[in-house]
Amino acid sequence: MSVARKTGAVTPPEVLARKGGVPLVCLTAYTTPMARLVDPHCDVVLVGDSVGMVLHGLPSTLGVTAEMMIMHGQAVRRGLERALMVVDLPFGTYEGGKEQAFRTAARLMAETGCAAIKLEGGETMAETIRFLAARGIPVMAHIGLTPQAVNALGGYKVQGQGDDAERIMRDAVAVAEAGAFAVVLEKLVGPLAGRITAGIAIPTIGIGASVACDGQILVLEDMLGMFADFRPKFVRRYAELGRDAGTAIAAYAAEVRERRFPGAEHAFGDGGTR
Ligand code: KIV
Repeated sequence: MSVARKTGAVTPPEVLARKGGVPLVCLTAYTTPMARLVDPHCDVVLVGDSVGMVLHGLPSTLGVTAEMMIMHGQAVRRGLERALMVVDLPFGTYEGGKEQAFRTAARLMAETGCAAIKLEGGETMAETIRFLAARGIPVMAHIGLTPQAVNALGGYKVQGQGDDAERIMRDAVAVAEAGAFAVVLEKLVGPLAGRITAGIAIPTIGIGASVACDGQILVLEDMLGMFADFRPKFVRRYAELGRDAGTAIAAYAAEVRERRFPGAEHAFGDGGTR
């Protein structure tokens, strides 16, 4: 299978150049059909490690492996024509040191054809980001609520309140100075997201971080309303696919039980009546 990038794709320098411009449109995708749907509308498509929770039913992103990211990355690659594809480095595959991060990132790029990777962490990851960027690996950073650190953070809480704001500001400056081409700000209080966006030279991409950011990202299944009971405050639902799918499946089940499906128009030959 070819994993070559297609011509015309958005590049990391183009994303960087959008700082302060028209907001960057970003969504996650994990499969070929979803990648085909989002590609015409997005600047960036992220194969996020949220795939573990959204598609595999894991309780957190901690159980996601490099092999899972490669399989989903290859599927998404087949569905993209123009958006920049970014793949998450999963937990435990990069925090051990910059050489480990390089090996994982190079493997993900070679095996999926993605043009950039994303990793979680601020000041503590600056040296790794500098190392990767200097070796031709475009890095999207991710600070604020970093789901891979959910245990250390004590849950999926809003970040940057009170004194914590200065720590996150330092994280933002550190990843920008280390050479990240963009940074995801997750679940940050709005004024801090605005301060960070005004204070660093790379685009900020918000998820639950207010309209002040240079772009926005959501998990596709969340904005499509796939999960009826999952309603985080920062998600606007643009569809109710979970509800609509439930209604459709119930209708199918009823029609099968009542022998109303398949109809004569779905059958071959004489219609196959009993
Ligand atoms: O894994 C993911 O989907 C992410 C986004 C929510 C930013 O990191």
